[in-house]
Amino acid sequence: MPKLNILVGTMYGGALDVAEQVKPLFEQAGYAVTIHEQPSVDDIVGGDADLVLFCVSTTGSGDFPGSFVPFVRNLREKSPTLTSLRYGLIALGDSSYGDTFCGAGRALDELLVDHGATRLGERLEVDAMETFMADDAAVPWVEEWIVAQQLEVA
Ligand SMILES: Cc1cc2nc3c(=O)[nH]c(=O)nc-3n(C[C@H](O)[C@H](O)[C@H](O)COP(=O)(O)O)c2cc1C
Repeated sequence: MPKLNILVGTMYGGALDVAEQVKPLFEQAGYAVTIHEQPSVDDIVGGDADLVLFCVSTTGSGDFPGSFVPFVRNLREKSPTLTSLRYGLIALGDSSYGDTFCGAGRALDELLVDHGATRLGERLEVDAMETFMADDAAVPWVEEWIVAQQLEVA
């Protein structure tokens, strides 16, 4: 069974809720799913995951949530080649923060691509100004993503 790792960066739990709500969708699609609340670079390298989904909110002024900072620091230090990594990205933010809207998700996306990873489809940006519960936007998006990217395992 292929493996999907969901890497979470959250301050207030919204991104973790998203991870927990979409987990069964991937299980139905044939994946063994693990949610990582304290992610490490090992969760995305070395063939441990066939697919990775990031659920990351933004705090401060476009900053990564504290629980996600060690992952980003480690990624920058180790600078692994990620050419075999295929990933999806759900960014949580609030457009009232203006220029730093979804800043962490956007910075993460750039970092992953810089290391050779391939994003499948577009990044989802969930705006707290429009969507009170992020999973209301994330669940239908993941349902479509699985179909559009042909991720279902026969
Ligand atoms: C102190 C604070 C700073 C924030 N800074 C930003 C920001 O710079 N950009 C942004 O898009 N959202 C920002 N947000 C909004 C959060 O990203 C948004 O509410 C998100 O849904 C929180 O997700 P979480 O529950 O997973 O932490 C901020 C929220 C707080 C409380």
